[in-house]
Amino acid sequence: MTDVRINPSILAADFANFERELGRIQTADAAHVDIMDNHFVPNLTFGQPMVARLQEVSPIPLDLHLMINNPDHWAPQFAEMGVFSVTFHLEAATAPATLARSVRERGARAGVALRPGTPFNQIEELLEHFDQLLIMTVEPGFGGQKFMPETMPKLRQAREWARKHESEIWLQVDGGVSQDTIGMAAEAGADTFVAGSAVFRGDPADQIAQLRTLAGQHAH
Ligand code: DX5
Ligand code: ZN
Repeated sequence: MTDVRINPSILAADFANFERELGRIQTADAAHVDIMDNHFVPNLTFGQPMVARLQEVSPIPLDLHLMINNPDHWAPQFAEMGVFSVTFHLEAATAPATLARSVRERGARAGVALRPGTPFNQIEELLEHFDQLLIMTVEPGFGGQKFMPETMPKLRQAREWARKHESEIWLQVDGGVSQDTIGMAAEAGADTFVAGSAVFRGDPADQIAQLRTLAGQHAH
């Protein structure tokens, strides 16, 4: 059975208390950090000084999700900061394979993200260059949106590709993941689950444990 990983998104945390909030999710596998530039998506969040400080105080690894233009310039710089993984959007990158190599060379796992409308065949030929694929299950930009079940066929395609190529790539879902939807995503082939509002709306440790159990029940 595939391992299940739960990565809470700190977009739903208390922005005035990140050190405490990271402590509340220490049973998770990584903290998901949403970087938005107000251009690739209509919202603005954290920059490098913030990531540097989070990296210093976090008890768990940081999983960066770059929702920004020009990742070709920025992703290597974020990778250099010692974070666990850097995921950029395929739609924003000019040279995705080169960029993946550069992220890996700087010691981070390389991830590529697809908006809900971007089909699997646009990444298929390049997927061997990546350690993780992020299939967005909402339009990127905001937390608290509704999970889009219509993205599940894409996840099945990715899982099938990984099986055929005997690939160890992690398949991540992000957006609207909760106790109600995580089973569906696990069943379709996801092994890494980002959840913001579902984790922080209750006791984070309890929510993480519940999500882990539910995902495990449907895992491949
Ligand atoms: C959305 C972000 C997500 C977001 C998920 O653009 O990429 O990581 O924080 O939040 P929820 O789990 O509340 O949908
Ligand atoms: Zn995200």
